[in-house]
Amino acid sequence: MKKPSKTALPPSPVRTSGQVTPADQPPATRQDTDKNVDLRISTQAPGADLTTNQGVIVSDDQNSLKSHVRGPTLLEDILMREKITHFDHERIPERVVHARGTAAHGLFQVYESQAAITMAAPLQDPAVQTPVFVRFSTVAGSRGSTDTPRDVRGFAVKFYTTDGVWDLVGNNMPVFFIQDANKFPDLIHAVKPEPHNEIPQAQSAHDTFWDFASLTPESAHMLMWVMSDRAIPRSLTMMEGFGVHTFRLVNAEGVSRFVKFHWKPLKGVCSLVWEEATLISGKDPDFNRRDLYEAIEAGNYPEWELGLQIIEEEDEHKFGFDLLDATKLIPEELVPVVKVGKMTLNRNPDNFFAETEQVAFHTGHVVPGIDFTNDPLLQGRLFSYIDTQLRRVGPNFHEIPINRSLKPADNNQRDGFARMTINKGKVSYFPNSLGGGCPMHQPGAAAAFRSVALKEAPGPKVRERSASFSDHFSQATQFWNSMSDWEKDHIAAAFSFELNQVVDEGVRNRTMNEILVNIHPDLAEMVSGATGIAVAPAGTPDAPTPSAPTPSGPLRQDADKLRSPALSMDKAPPPPSLIGRKVAVLLGDGVDAKEVQSALAAFAEAKEVQSALAAFAEAGLVAETIGPHGGTVATSGKPMKVNRAAPNAPSVVYDAVFVAAGVGAGLAAQPLAQRFVHEAYRHGKPIAVAPDGEALLQAAGVPPAAAGIGIGQGSKMVSDLIKNLGQHRFPRRVSVLKPS
Ligand code: HEM
Repeated sequence: MKKPSKTALPPSPVRTSGQVTPADQPPATRQDTDKNVDLRISTQAPGADLTTNQGVIVSDDQNSLKSHVRGPTLLEDILMREKITHFDHERIPERVVHARGTAAHGLFQVYESQAAITMAAPLQDPAVQTPVFVRFSTVAGSRGSTDTPRDVRGFAVKFYTTDGVWDLVGNNMPVFFIQDANKFPDLIHAVKPEPHNEIPQAQSAHDTFWDFASLTPESAHMLMWVMSDRAIPRSLTMMEGFGVHTFRLVNAEGVSRFVKFHWKPLKGVCSLVWEEATLISGKDPDFNRRDLYEAIEAGNYPEWELGLQIIEEEDEHKFGFDLLDATKLIPEELVPVVKVGKMTLNRNPDNFFAETEQVAFHTGHVVPGIDFTNDPLLQGRLFSYIDTQLRRVGPNFHEIPINRSLKPADNNQRDGFARMTINKGKVSYFPNSLGGGCPMHQPGAAAAFRSVALKEAPGPKVRERSASFSDHFSQATQFWNSMSDWEKDHIAAAFSFELNQVVDEGVRNRTMNEILVNIHPDLAEMVSGATGIAVAPAGTPDAPTPSAPTPSGPLRQDADKLRSPALSMDKAPPPPSLIGRKVAVLLGDGVDAKEVQSALAAFAEAKEVQSALAAFAEAGLVAETIGPHGGTVATSGKPMKVNRAAPNAPSVVYDAVFVAAGVGAGLAAQPLAQRFVHEAYRHGKPIAVAPDGEALLQAAGVPPAAAGIGIGQGSKMVSDLIKNLGQHRFPRRVSVLKPS
């Protein structure tokens, strides 16, 4: 497939949001409002000469200025001092959370106008593509930490709309740990490495996190998400995204409705398994980052549909939980997710620091048509993000190209570190007459941001939690009830792993007897079996007590009946697209070149079909040949090129294994190959071998009749493997809780 040029403007007749029409501006500057062009403007023109920052040509960039050839370096060496001083100041503070991340540019396009429910600019005109920049992240780890810890993933989208910047700063899980922003510093202090020794990095599996969680029953629902495989996504492109809070959509008449935002990936929702994720951390700590980068470079552009759950104002109280409580989701079975548009990521940043590191999101960056609710977590975020950006990137962060609005900003704010705008004239206040009254606020402008005029119920000022926030367990139970057998196995295994890392017996017991038993007795029993933490009989001193600082109310009467099949990854339809899945084609000396070549051709052909049709039904795979060493391997015909040498090609970074005829018997004697196939089996991956590969299966301890193992020949072997990949994994092969 032909890769579009990185900086190409979208083809006619589609207009890019922010592209100004001739009536608005003189033709000379018309296309400058496209975000890609906007970013290019700030790019330094390549020059032949190496200069100082002041433009002076440097005569020698390799040697410092010395008093004589073997003498001391002189203070006068302005060239070296400028270079090293700049280097010394290269780092800015990393984000206090979500420090590890990666990002991409793209476009959003609405399917049909949503003007009836919102004025939000990107949701108006199906002919307009709104530029976006999306940053994915983990939460707890430092900037240099691994990509695949068990953690929430940030999913932050910056829309460069015609009405200014809108940031939808969400996660890959629809709920959160806490209900009130005032607890956020405590949550983060608890999950980050412990302060006395800064251990462990990027993990919740330690005493302080579980101490906090066991005393915070409102976190029970989120714990279920974080202990599920959602916390170890196979790819950033295979995760759902959620705005989490209930927001408001507002139309031109000022009518407001509640909304929950969803991103649904067109590659399906797929995860790793825990052992695989931990191995990847060592073998390729950049696994998710690399996957996103390579997919975009290859033209396999990841896509998500934007989904909306709309709730009329009069239905606010009909759910049995509070829409303002960020620890609750609205089951899709109760309020369907209506897909209204598609986002495509199609360009990698040119410079990680300038774009991915300097991008500054803020939940308060909204445009007319979107408004907030009284969710106390959201309200706190409205304060926190602007505050943290001021510290991390500075008061003029909005002038940095990646943050700059396509609609020019104009106001009377001035000065501050690294101010780029050169404001002219003497007026920097409002009202004024000396500047002709400008810039002028616009009470009557249709496109001006106005908060929804809501009546707030009068009452005393309080520091209290609404009673409607007190059911902390029903939706955690609903999550458990909605899982399949293997998903429950993985969740129980995750709780067990985490609690087995916890040393303090009090914390372990409290987690079991204050949290897990309240979610589901089966979960408590399974974790008890793997951790040795006793489930205290009801009525004994260790049994659940209302001792937690945020006491929980009673479970909903029907909690045990609550189910939402949409929460299960197992019950989700198979991934609609296999583009970019990686197949390991194992080679050895003596390979049947024809068979491998035709298999590779079949993969390539499938990819072409996929890319061309952008259809979901067929595969588009990345096949890599792996040999015992780099270079080539001998075949019955010409020597065959090896893409990767076995020691550099761990099983865990592939989705499936293909062993052509003439290879398996030889590999059966090689420990690396045995391990490769064994790990693929344990991690539930499809494996296809030619009949002579049965020896390899046997040596690797793989039962040939297991689900997802194919023994065959020729094109059928290939098509069976592709079919099996459609299921992503065969997770019932090996229990994670009780591994064989
Ligand atoms: C629903 C709950 C929350 C979600 C979905 C969420 C999501 C995110 C995401 C995605 C980022 C990374 C942004 C990026 O890629 O640059 C982020 C960063 C951050 N979040 Fe949150 N967050 C939540 C709650 C909170 C709360 C309650 C606070 C504080 C009261 C908070 C404070 C921060 C801070 C300080 C950053 C670092 C921002 C930066 O330096 O760029 N978050 N959050």
